[in-house]
Amino acid sequence: MRVQILGTAAGGGVPQWNCACHGCAAARAHPSWRRRHASIAIEAAEGRWHVVNATPDIAEQIESSAAPRPDPRPGGPAGRRTPVAGVILTDAELDHTLGLPRLREAPSLPIAATGTVRAALERGLRLDRVLAPYTDLAWTDLPEDGPVPLDGSDHLEISAVRVSGKRPRYAADLDIPDGRWSVALHVTDRSSGRSLVYAPAVADWSPGLSAALATADCVIVDGTFWDDDEPRRSGFTRRTATEMGHLPIIGPGGTAERLAALPAARRLYTHLNNTNPLVDPGHEGHRTLAALGVETAPEGLVIEL
Ligand code: MLT
Ligand code: MN
Ligand code: ZN
Repeated sequence: MRVQILGTAAGGGVPQWNCACHGCAAARAHPSWRRRHASIAIEAAEGRWHVVNATPDIAEQIESSAAPRPDPRPGGPAGRRTPVAGVILTDAELDHTLGLPRLREAPSLPIAATGTVRAALERGLRLDRVLAPYTDLAWTDLPEDGPVPLDGSDHLEISAVRVSGKRPRYAADLDIPDGRWSVALHVTDRSSGRSLVYAPAVADWSPGLSAALATADCVIVDGTFWDDDEPRRSGFTRRTATEMGHLPIIGPGGTAERLAALPAARRLYTHLNNTNPLVDPGHEGHRTLAALGVETAPEGLVIEL
């Protein structure tokens, strides 16, 4: 299985358009600090890639990564050609779904998501009605009760692992029964026996998530905030990291120690908020994590599993 990291930032990105915090200001001056919105691409078959979460940066993410970018030779009907075979959604948050309208030039767009996420996008954002004149949204269910083949692949299987019932803010009042609002994606390669867990929003270290992580060869996990008080201290909210639906990296309930205990060969943090001190490539937190065998996911990294 081949996976490429397309972006590693939380909503807003680094830099965020209306922010001059330390991380955002430094990212304007130093390109190495920049992070696009969190997303990965998974190769289902030779030249067929599925993008996990459709971020506001999706078109630039496709263009700047070797894998899902069209073959540089001109050709094909009306010149249209893409290795992007579909989108998989782990939740219905805006930073993971605003890229869907950017893909409207496709005649049809396969999207795998839970029924809860689909209902939020259809009833909260009216995405089906808005996009119907442009493209066919071809929905498939991302099931929790057993894996399904990815894109007809004979070796890659995907399934959802329930993480939490945290709703996007726009969906707070929607009459959708509480369900699979936020899931982790579990991808298994049956030919190699290797597996990946992608969990960009971890509100709760659920038993299901814990079990999936315990057998994975590579885990890419929510690293939004360094510590629980970071969002309050930064002044943009009165909520803690945990109250915002993101377990912090360090401190009580922190995820770093939990990741350190996993057998996975690769343990990566993604979805970093621009207030997270780890956006500074020289911050001492990187050494703290390295001692635990954990790292922040580099933009563009290709992982062979
Ligand atoms: C989150 O990750 O918690 C959401 O993307 C935040 C938001 O944009 O409301
Ligand atoms: Mn987010
Ligand atoms: Zn900022």
